[in-house]
Amino acid sequence: MLVNDRISISPVTGSLGAVIEGVDLAKDSDAATTKLIRNALLEHGVIFFHDQKMTPAEHVEAGRRFGTLNIHQYVRPLEDYPEIIVIAKDEDDTKNFGGIWHSDTTFLEEPALGSILYCLECPDHGGDTMFANQYDAYERLSPGMKRMLDGMVAIHTPRRSYTTEAVQSKNLTNKAMKFFEDTVADQETEHPVVRMHPETGRKCLYVNEDFTSRFKDMTVEESAPLLNYLAHHSTRPEFVCRFRWKPGSVAFWDNRAVQHYAINDYNGQRRVMHRVTINGDRPR
Ligand code: SIN
Repeated sequence: MLVNDRISISPVTGSLGAVIEGVDLAKDSDAATTKLIRNALLEHGVIFFHDQKMTPAEHVEAGRRFGTLNIHQYVRPLEDYPEIIVIAKDEDDTKNFGGIWHSDTTFLEEPALGSILYCLECPDHGGDTMFANQYDAYERLSPGMKRMLDGMVAIHTPRRSYTTEAVQSKNLTNKAMKFFEDTVADQETEHPVVRMHPETGRKCLYVNEDFTSRFKDMTVEESAPLLNYLAHHSTRPEFVCRFRWKPGSVAFWDNRAVQHYAINDYNGQRRVMHRVTINGDRPR
């Protein structure tokens, strides 16, 4: 769909995702284009751009148009650019980063609003990323399940992915990723299981396999059956789109309403991405 004489936005599935053409993220910093991108993000959950050329400084600047940027507690940044994390897998690595359904940094009290991922190197095929619409996931639950979840609170923690033990076991096999050492990653944060999106006012499911450990006032064992059901339900194929990368592609997703999953099907090949993460507010 042509939005103006230069820019078009084409949805990629019936649930979420759209490709934007006619925008140069490094240069088009005017208020009208920024508003158009923000509206497209809110409408489609994740937006994609191809053929971009951004220096690290331009990537940071593009991110800042949408909010302040997160400095990651656990992943080492690109040298001289504390706001950029490098998501990389080398030819001899077998594990990848982000190969589990999640939304970014939900272990923080004020988790990420969005992430802008820029592809520098990727295999000819493989290494796609999937995204899942959590508005649709919520809306497709039964009235009884919605009523129950509406009042529930979940505990989020970085323990599973970012304790020194987890990081060291990743470093053994995924040498391309650089983490801080000796990090204590055992804090727990409470968030509503169903959050109200602060900009669209719509409700969405807000639990994920990576960082949600249990429901408040329940044990891990008691929480597991319902969390497993929600993990399965929230990533049903009809809520998912899949993005195929090329060098110069960018994906910009709304972490408040979308989960993502990096597919690890390209052993023997290299993939290098830069990500900036935009700070969000406290889920309500
Ligand atoms: C992530 O941000 O979780 C990684 C996504 C990707 O590498 O495709």
